[in-house]
Amino acid sequence: MQKFITSNAMVCAMRPEHPVYCLHPRAVTIATSWFLDNFPGRVLFAVKTNPFFVDTISAAGLQHFDVASLGEIELIHAKVPGARMSFMHPVKSRVSIRRAYFEFGIRDFALDCEAELTKILEETQHANDLNLFVRLSVSNRHSRLDLSGKFGISGKPAAKLLLKARQAAMRLGICFHAGSQLMRPEAYADAMEVVSKLIRSSGVIIDVLDVGGGFPSIYPDMTPPPLADFIAKISESFEQMPVSETCELWCEPGRALVAEAASLVVKVEMRKNNTLYINDGTYGGLFDAGHPGFKFPITPVRPHAPVTDSLGKFSLYGPTCDSLDFMPGPFILPADIGEGDYLEIGNLGAYSMQLRTEFNGFDRTELVDIAEGPLLSMYGIGRKVGADDFEVIEATEMQEGNTLPGETT
Ligand SMILES: Cc1ncc(COP(=O)(O)O)c(C=O)c1O
Repeated sequence: MQKFITSNAMVCAMRPEHPVYCLHPRAVTIATSWFLDNFPGRVLFAVKTNPFFVDTISAAGLQHFDVASLGEIELIHAKVPGARMSFMHPVKSRVSIRRAYFEFGIRDFALDCEAELTKILEETQHANDLNLFVRLSVSNRHSRLDLSGKFGISGKPAAKLLLKARQAAMRLGICFHAGSQLMRPEAYADAMEVVSKLIRSSGVIIDVLDVGGGFPSIYPDMTPPPLADFIAKISESFEQMPVSETCELWCEPGRALVAEAASLVVKVEMRKNNTLYINDGTYGGLFDAGHPGFKFPITPVRPHAPVTDSLGKFSLYGPTCDSLDFMPGPFILPADIGEGDYLEIGNLGAYSMQLRTEFNGFDRTELVDIAEGPLLSMYGIGRKVGADDFEVIEATEMQEGNTLPGETT
């Protein structure tokens, strides 16, 4: 992989015609070490977030992975032999359960209904060394991406399932996901309170509590409290739980370990008013800038153009023919940005590289290594100190007639 000091140097050297991921693996090492040093329990990496960084994460000392599919299991088996894997997807195919248990030695399985428990028991031939995790449904109200609709059980059915799983398991766990990009540490405290109530009402003791993912990254319009506040809230809540003396505590961060480790340099192919047509979009690496409307940090990469103080608000269209390939932003950029300019879109190490599709043939990308840090950072390694500093700037008056789609003048 080619290495550059900055994205600017990369653009000067390559003048790329395709989107380029600028990787900063050092950000992954720093984030992983931070979690291993600060989380008062076991840290698993949620592989789905970005399997590309598994080697770096493992080299930083993390050897336990949350896997969701046979594909991820095979990947971890090949890349980190001997690592522990926990199969935390609550609905699994029978083949994947069977192969996970017999071929890959996996003993940790999540479930959220009795039918899945039956499936796990049948496919492992009623093994007596299973660690079963009941996935609870908890509020996702403090998250930017709600994951509560699909999985999880609550109330009396949860108590019943817990009891059944206790009878079948060597070790019993409870897991939950309070939503991705949590903006308040209370999200964990609230969910842990739900767990405590369930333990009390069911009378079932658990051996592991897995608080899931959800630890936030930083974006221009989302500056969460420091990660240390999330850890402090989890520790404090855990100490108040009825099982804290005997129970292990786990977490499964995804975004927080890898988000800062990649940015994407794209080229502007066309400007129409304040909409830029760029060479990557929601069918490529910018899914979250589309429907979920993430405003990723963005900066122009203009090696030879004079710096301009005049700024405007822009929205972006991706390269495919689909008008859903739209990223509303608004993104703050120099008012004179236009065709041929490059943009660096930051904090795209999570949920970007692995979401790319081949739709319309726009799947070509290149990867380079760059030394300079992320645009924004939760770990004090950002090029800008914080989101407030990043958003600098007085936005200039929009040029006449320049409106965002859906906005009226
Ligand atoms: C079971 C599970 N654990 C962990 C994660 C990682 O979440 P995050 O990236 O919000 O930390 C996910 C994400 O969907 C998940 O489904």
